[in-house]
Amino acid sequence: MVVCVCPIAADVGVGVLKSGGNAVDAAIAVAFAEAVTWPEAGNIGGGGFMLVANGTEATFFDYREAAPALATKTMFADGKIDFRSHQSAGVPGTVRGMELAHKRFGTKPWKDLLAPAVKLAAGFPVDTPLAKRINDVLKDPKTTNAEFRRIFGREWEAGDTLKQPELAKTLAGIAEHGADWFYTGPPAEQLEAEMKAEGGLIRKSDLAKYAAKERKPLLGTYRGYEIVAAPPPSSGGTAILESLNILEQFNVSKHPRHSPETVHLLAEVQRRAFRDRAEFLGDPDFTTIPEHLTSKEYAKKLAMTIDMGRATKSESLAGTIPITEMGGNTTHFSIVDKNGLCVSNTYTLEMNFGSRIVVRGAGFILNNEMTDFNPIPGTTTRAGKIGTDANLVAPGKRMLSSMTPTIVRKGGKPYLVTGSPGGRTIINTVLCVLVNTLDYDMTPTAAVDAPRQHHQWFPDRISIEKSSTSADLVVKLKAMGHTVTESRQGDAHTIRIDPMTGLFQGAADKRLNGKASGY
Ligand code: DON
Repeated sequence: MVVCVCPIAADVGVGVLKSGGNAVDAAIAVAFAEAVTWPEAGNIGGGGFMLVANGTEATFFDYREAAPALATKTMFADGKIDFRSHQSAGVPGTVRGMELAHKRFGTKPWKDLLAPAVKLAAGFPVDTPLAKRINDVLKDPKTTNAEFRRIFGREWEAGDTLKQPELAKTLAGIAEHGADWFYTGPPAEQLEAEMKAEGGLIRKSDLAKYAAKERKPLLGTYRGYEIVAAPPPSSGGTAILESLNILEQFNVSKHPRHSPETVHLLAEVQRRAFRDRAEFLGDPDFTTIPEHLTSKEYAKKLAMTIDMGRATKSESLAGTIPITEMGGNTTHFSIVDKNGLCVSNTYTLEMNFGSRIVVRGAGFILNNEMTDFNPIPGTTTRAGKIGTDANLVAPGKRMLSSMTPTIVRKGGKPYLVTGSPGGRTIINTVLCVLVNTLDYDMTPTAAVDAPRQHHQWFPDRISIEKSSTSADLVVKLKAMGHTVTESRQGDAHTIRIDPMTGLFQGAADKRLNGKASGY
């Protein structure tokens, strides 16, 4: 089964599974297909994380973008670098990431896994959600890149054919010659030329040096389930384990899921996990990350600081972080194959359509992931900007991510595969799906569709999705001292494996688009 945002890509993945490929083969084919069919987030010009596990083993592929050698600690400090500029792009990681996953797990020829993407890039029918996304991005005056407008610039309707011939050529080259060709061959030349012409920082030497990394996933437990989580440079796994460990100290399901008591408890947990994320998390190759964050003892101490009747002021948790005054897109897919091998993959261009810059001649969209670094050294604001040392820019460093691909196991068997887009809300989207499933026994569709909540320490407020904001709930939360706002969280495409029947239950998130495709 494959669950993802794009129906065409879901079917590409199931085609690979049906022809005998495993979940990683399918993931590689889906990732390259979405680089064509879901261009606002699917990519070869961005990066991400792939978590792979069966019932007993697990590993993690980190193909997060890295800062180019010319990047500097204070490059974003004066606010002059435009978020959609060439300087906002990190060194792309996706092609190396897929290569590494293929080397470790692939059973099908690399070329066969890219073939559907190459074909789709020659032309595919746009559906209603994609037509809307492209039309919307074209209406935005900040979409200025001429090559982007040349390729995508027209009024789209469902059924129109989107042709990306330069991208088709690049994908065909990767299919034929492998990832090295992308990082050292013609696409590297084209990317360097693009950067030099427009004041960007990425050079051929950055591309040649870029490596995807295999890392050990974080492992935790929650009420008898084993949680396989994303390690740094994701902040997601650490925050999820810290949150679940605190929640384990409470009888969460004592109150209904959207009662003031439960929403308050979750918000207090989220506030604390995000406070620690701000102080400690960054690229583990540059920053020492303390181990206590995911320990049960630490969680017990934090649990004792929660008052069940009163909101904690975020400011009171700042500790040594000085607080001052001063304000996308990603996609996730889940795959399980007939042998129970699971892939939880989240990858991104950062904002929607990334930098909205298409590399001339190579046809792919560049990320603007550099904006995930802490922008102003030393400046952490009440509005939510973080300025701590752990995630400051440095050459070769990976920027901290909130992407949180997660797999849950029970009794040595995979149970749930989930993840989401949504910037910092990703972590809390995954937390809500886990709590809904593990504490409230919701079906995967109910767990994914249920209204969610987000608290990220600063700004000091709970955002809740509309359908849960009954007047009574908001009044009670305000009486406890919370500020409450409304917002929407990401599409969490999820698979649950029924432990009794072994049946795969796929939930494509109703918030956006998507398909659960299986056989
Ligand atoms: O890695 C991260 O945390 C961000 N670049 C993700 C951005 C994102 O999810 C925006 N989309 N919805």
